[in-house]
Amino acid sequence: LERGTTELDLAGRHVVVSAGGTREYLDPVRFLGNRSSGLQGYALARAAAARGAEVTLVAANVTLPDPAGVKVVRVETTAQLRQEVVSAAAAADAVVMAAAPADFRPTGVSDAKIKKAADGSAPTIELVQNPDILHEIGTERAREGQVVVGFAAETGDETGSVLDLARTKLVRKGCDLLVVNDVSGGAVFGSPDNEAVILAADGADVEVSRGSKSALAHVIWDQVRGRLR
Ligand code: CTP
Ligand code: CA
Repeated sequence: LERGTTELDLAGRHVVVSAGGTREYLDPVRFLGNRSSGLQGYALARAAAARGAEVTLVAANVTLPDPAGVKVVRVETTAQLRQEVVSAAAAADAVVMAAAPADFRPTGVSDAKIKKAADGSAPTIELVQNPDILHEIGTERAREGQVVVGFAAETGDETGSVLDLARTKLVRKGCDLLVVNDVSGGAVFGSPDNEAVILAADGADVEVSRGSKSALAHVIWDQVRGRLR
């Protein structure tokens, strides 16, 4: 086991983890996407499997190999991610939304490849907001006692500090835990390391110092484990 312990403290539990970044298609060959690597979500899935959980990993455009002993469901768009996460959540003790769904998608997807205009004019891409999957899972709760975890990368702005904005987001989304990364110092995409604060709806926040994404994953599962019935 990754932690050097043999404790199967998630045995008999079913958990759902989402990972990666969604793609929102403009036409058959082009999309709007983001830089999420899927590393943290995959680390979460591996850690849960190592602790005995039955794991469903909903992976959006991740190029990493399937973790052993994990059911991997591959998706591309936010609509597909939502469908698979909501469906798997119906039987889950915990749901962790580590994926980065695109906030917006093009209003329509062209069936044909978009061509350049003869007059050299640039097209305008009209966007519509995507459904908020974490908000749906957190506020509707498929099962009583289900533990719901979100992630947030924040910089802070004139309306509030990183932790102020994150606390507001935790409440708005109705989740039990929100894993907060301070990204004001630069991007963390694709990095093997992570540091975070885990905000808790019950007020028992946990600070996690810089370490591997696997180490952070185990701390997150420790926090989830303590809140399972
Ligand atoms: N999330 C989600 N569905 C979306 C957008 C985000 O489930 N359409 C989840 C992410 O997986 C993450 C959490 O919500 O666990 C926070 O994502 P974030 O982008 O910080 O939240 P947003 O509500 O999109 O807020 P912002 O305007 O700051 O981007
Ligand atoms: Ca967002």
